[in-house]
Amino acid sequence: MKTLVVVGSQWGDEGKGKVTDYLAQKADVVVRSQGGNNAGHTILFGGNKFALRSIPSGIFNPNIKNVMANGMVIHPKQMLEELHGLEARGIREYQLFISNRAHIVLPYHEALDGAFETFKGDHKIGTTKRGIGPAYADKANRIGIRMGDFVEEHTLKELLKETLNIKNRELQMLGLPQYDFHELYTEYSVYAKELKKFVCDTSLLLEEEIEKGSKVLFEGAQGVMLCLDHGTYPYVTSSSPTGASVPLNAGIAPRYITDVLGVCKAYTTRVGEGPFPTELNGDLANYIRERGHEYGTVTQRPRRVGYLDCVALNYARRVSGINHLALMLFDVLSGIKTLKICYAYDLDGEIIYTIPSTTYDYSRVKPLYIELPGWDEDITSVTSFEDLPENAKAYIRKIEELTKSKVSLFSVGPDRTQTIELEEFFK
Ligand code: IMP
Repeated sequence: MKTLVVVGSQWGDEGKGKVTDYLAQKADVVVRSQGGNNAGHTILFGGNKFALRSIPSGIFNPNIKNVMANGMVIHPKQMLEELHGLEARGIREYQLFISNRAHIVLPYHEALDGAFETFKGDHKIGTTKRGIGPAYADKANRIGIRMGDFVEEHTLKELLKETLNIKNRELQMLGLPQYDFHELYTEYSVYAKELKKFVCDTSLLLEEEIEKGSKVLFEGAQGVMLCLDHGTYPYVTSSSPTGASVPLNAGIAPRYITDVLGVCKAYTTRVGEGPFPTELNGDLANYIRERGHEYGTVTQRPRRVGYLDCVALNYARRVSGINHLALMLFDVLSGIKTLKICYAYDLDGEIIYTIPSTTYDYSRVKPLYIELPGWDEDITSVTSFEDLPENAKAYIRKIEELTKSKVSLFSVGPDRTQTIELEEFFK
């Protein structure tokens, strides 16, 4: 295995940051290929906690090439703040490459994101308000600005003037404040100068790396259930966080992708709006939320919490080509008397094993559960599968049975060391 895609197999926040950081120690290249700073990847090692948003998780290792590929939308100002924040904490030696075809996010995208949420009222998506949707919309509408143009003084001036002319009309129609070209240009041309040294053709770089046998890790952001195409539309993000999207979003051949590791929590969480069949309320939800520190990395919102949903996991496996699972936050479940796993849904009396395409149907499904006895033991110091209490082993085996996937890794705490690999990646 020379390339590995890590995807979130639920609604994001599955612990991809930790898995990627763990696997990145053995990788030569780490790639972010979609999304932007709507992601929040928390990484803990040596007593230090880092929350990455748009920068790949290999940034802590000076030997790793970190790639921000063409499928990303990058906010120049906030990305530089993120980078300066890392530098201020001693991360000064790093290798970073930004695709000249990645799109940039500007302040008017954030303003539009917020405004559309307000217009949607009760039907708001619950976005991170980072301007992600409007930036991808501009890309599709062919009025986006790409990194390669952004970092060239002559093209930036011309393009920004042209684009702002259109965007200001849109803002005006919506009753929103407009942006002054000179102010925006003066501020953003400074960021452009600083970013220029990182910008290159990352598709070319990746092909060279893969062909010479480098170990390349593709770090997914968000989760399959938030996929623009296959997720619970419209309560989704504006890119595709699936394994299938990686070749397009990184500019590489599909044949390079053979292994997809789906990261899932031992339970389910969701931030933002939208149906959530296994959602819990009350004491058990609070117990899991507090033990799992289930508050958004980007927005600090308390996350919605529920039982593990194997219908959603199976769906993610199918549409994303997942062939390994990483089970995260397993330790959080200690102390729960009876655990439930959803294996099917009841939709108006019919038993279904997949996700309905409409919100109308999906919000009506009733989860069907199997019940398993829980365990009281603290498992945060466990170092092997054999060390686990019998009921915890049975919980893992049941997930494997229901998802027809092998749990290749499980995690019993936030630190790098609290990771148990059952199958070796990047040998
Ligand atoms: P957006 O990506 O900011 O447009 O938000 C769209 C939906 O995706 C909202 O429900 C967000 O809460 C969710 N979302 C976006 N990024 C993440 C993430 O990294 N983790 C979890 N949810 C996310």
